[in-house]
Amino acid sequence: MKKIVIAIDGFSSCGKSTMAKDLAREVGYIYVDTGAMYRAVTLFAMRNDVFDAEGNIDETRLKALLPDVKLTFQLNNETKLPEVCLNGENVERYIRTLEVSQHVSPIAALPFVREKLVEQQQAMGNEKGIVMDGRDIGTVVFPNAELKIFVTASAEIRAQRRFKELETKGMPADFDEILQNVEQRDYIDTHRETSPLRQADDALVLDNSHLTITEQKAWLMEKFNERT
Ligand code: C5P
Repeated sequence: MKKIVIAIDGFSSCGKSTMAKDLAREVGYIYVDTGAMYRAVTLFAMRNDVFDAEGNIDETRLKALLPDVKLTFQLNNETKLPEVCLNGENVERYIRTLEVSQHVSPIAALPFVREKLVEQQQAMGNEKGIVMDGRDIGTVVFPNAELKIFVTASAEIRAQRRFKELETKGMPADFDEILQNVEQRDYIDTHRETSPLRQADDALVLDNSHLTITEQKAWLMEKFNERT
């Protein structure tokens, strides 16, 4: 069976990663969560005083420090999924907090940050057999991906999912704050100058607001089988 590149893009918290992980496991592909990479750089920036008290970014400082940032992946023995490491430290549990979510979009809007991460992402896809999720995978990282999916769902439904996810992880949060963060990130991600979130012309749109996981999976497998 021929190996392909699967690009999954869409708004925040629309279930992209769950879907991409599941698909990768099912078809035996490597899964790469590019959001985790932008989150890890954000965590690095937060730890290294790149933000001032108002949340402004010291771009000169970040630019100078960025060459020292090494992102690698480590397979979790239990879930068998790759987790991101920041200079050798597995930071999976630090990058999903609301605080990182609140700082990540401005960091991801910086062209020099995107350039570094996109280069690494493209190298990971050289051998194909990869499912990558993010915002610019079908448009910038892999414009020639054989299967491109653009996932969407209403902001309220996405905020509800995020809320439940944090609750399950024992990280209680405020629903309105999450909704506001989801809407804010949608705005920044779609309006930034470098690689804004947009649907690639040849992407298939999947609105999963009212789909069950099983229905979504059946749809995905059909599209995958058509292309392999
Ligand atoms: O997917 P996730 O919500 O974890 O991504 C966090 C943030 O990283 C997004 O809100 C977006 O600003 C940024 N991102 C990006 N390009 C990607 C993946 C994520 O700009 N390919």
